[in-house]
Amino acid sequence: MRNSHNVAVLVGSLRRESYSRKLANALIELAPEHLALQIVEIGTLEHYNQDFDDEHRIPASWRTFRDTMSLMDAVLFVTPEYNRSVPGVLKNAIDVGSRPHGQSVWQGKAAAVVSNSPGALSGFGANHHLRQSLVFLDMPTLQQPEAYIGGIAALLDPAGRLTNEGTREFCRKFMEVFATWIDTTAQVAA
Ligand code: FNR
Repeated sequence: MRNSHNVAVLVGSLRRESYSRKLANALIELAPEHLALQIVEIGTLEHYNQDFDDEHRIPASWRTFRDTMSLMDAVLFVTPEYNRSVPGVLKNAIDVGSRPHGQSVWQGKAAAVVSNSPGALSGFGANHHLRQSLVFLDMPTLQQPEAYIGGIAALLDPAGRLTNEGTREFCRKFMEVFATWIDTTAQVAA
């Protein structure tokens, strides 16, 4: 019997028909049952401004986000690539969660990164720029398998279901390995 874990899923796109969000939902569906995954919304977070922290004028959206994230054991990032890097909305969420100094919500949480793109490069640049932040934030991040999902538009049906059996199987295995990674890092932290 495996201990259950709360896992936040952060989606790096606000687009209504976002492939990233559809892919995130598919990953949630394919995950082992002992993971309690939920998408934590980041679209209404105010832009990070250090004055708000320094002057104790914390926006309600930041407070809610920080409180929610502090209850999580792990984080799954599902992101597109914007201009070969991490979309601003996702970077903003990372910055909001990282402060005030010494009170980061990210510290020690297991993480995994899934990038995607309609193109062939599969969000590689976003995936690795994101990993750079995760190193600094001290998040033990799943190394293998790496997940770069290219040609995403052709892999989803209009309802957002992954239609390609090979991709579904890859995503299922990815979530199983991530679950084991979370189990392992939780044991080390205990
Ligand atoms: C893009 N897109 C894109 N794609 C890519 O593979 N590499 C890139 O660097 C970029 N850059 C980029 C910048 C901006 C501002 C936009 C709006 C788009 C295309 C992107 O992959 C495509 O719009 C996806 O559909 C975005 O992901 P969602 O919204 O479907 O999750």
